Amino acid sequence: MNAYSTAANALRVPLAADVSDRLDLVRYATLAANSHNTQPWKFRIGADAIDVLPDMSRKTPVVDPDDHHLFCTLGCATENLILAAGARGLAGTAQFMPESGGGVRVSLEQTAPHETPAFKAIPSRGVSRAVYDGKPLSAETVAALEAAARSEAVDVVMITEPARIEATLALVVEGNDVQFRDDAFMAELKHWIRFDARQALAAGDGLFSGCTGNPSIPPWLGRLIFRFVASPKAESDKCAAQVRSSAGIMVLVGKADDPAHWVECGRSYQRFGLAATTLGLRHAFINQAVEVPAVREKLAAELGIPGRRPDLILRFGNGPAMPESLRRPVSAVVA
Ligand SMILES: Cc1cc2nc3c(=O)[nH]c(=O)nc-3n(C[C@H](O)[C@H](O)[C@H](O)COP(=O)(O)O)c2cc1C
Repeated sequence: MNAYSTAANALRVPLAADVSDRLDLVRYATLAANSHNTQPWKFRIGADAIDVLPDMSRKTPVVDPDDHHLFCTLGCATENLILAAGARGLAGTAQFMPESGGGVRVSLEQTAPHETPAFKAIPSRGVSRAVYDGKPLSAETVAALEAAARSEAVDVVMITEPARIEATLALVVEGNDVQFRDDAFMAELKHWIRFDARQALAAGDGLFSGCTGNPSIPPWLGRLIFRFVASPKAESDKCAAQVRSSAGIMVLVGKADDPAHWVECGRSYQRFGLAATTLGLRHAFINQAVEVPAVREKLAAELGIPGRRPDLILRFGNGPAMPESLRRPVSAVVA
């Protein structure tokens, strides 16, 4: 684990004072959340813009058949990139590019440098899949999280009443049950799991067992016993304990259901995650309820927005941190 922590820390050193070669801005962008930690992005550095492009070789077609999460992920990286650029005197403006498979152009113009709290939180933001302390948060804190996420393109639903948390949890568990009984889902998940620190370090991507609260085991053994250990019941029980220990649930709902809005949902999440980090709070995705179409429809009905697509769902509260995740080097993600 020493080598793992050293590598995780090295990825998160402060942003360089001089970002004229732009590569350090890309490093900060890659610290964003991303689905299954597949890092499905490429960055094309131009004279006065950086393009955030999809890397379709890293898509996850089973859990994400329409590339929704992939475009959300590009939005997460876009938000980090704009915050980091702003801190070094470059005002970034994002524009979705529907042509050539979709991507985001972040145009950069000189401005006064401005280090915001969100920028400062980039290296320490990370999901925590731990059990939290079960205590509620003040209405002001919940409102601050909601304000960080909301935008012209994205609506935010905050759920803090215990009865509504239970009703939402039932749908998370229902989605989880469908997924953990699906051979294709489990095979894809297993492909992205890194069963010990050595395997995680060699790949620089994927879901390290330590980040999901699981013990490290030799990868050959992990692959062998994965289906027995990761049973639908065990995983659902774990989800229930995690959600019931949280102060609330947040659902992001794009104003339209298309790649441009999926990118905006990713940006909203990233602002929320950074705001939570600034406030010393933890958060984690519980997307099982939005990944299975039939369950997602039930969630929309439960939220009183039938016909719309709930894009991302998260829990938040006070709790312990978990190990930080790894990233591939910047050289591997520059187009
Ligand atoms: C679009 C999207 C979907 C995600 N879905 C889940 C999920 O369902 N369950 C989960 O535990 N984490 C989920 N994550 C979190 C990623 O696994 C996490 O961001 C990644 O492993 C990197 O870790 P970090 O965010 O701590 O840096 C999701 C992230 C994104 C951006």
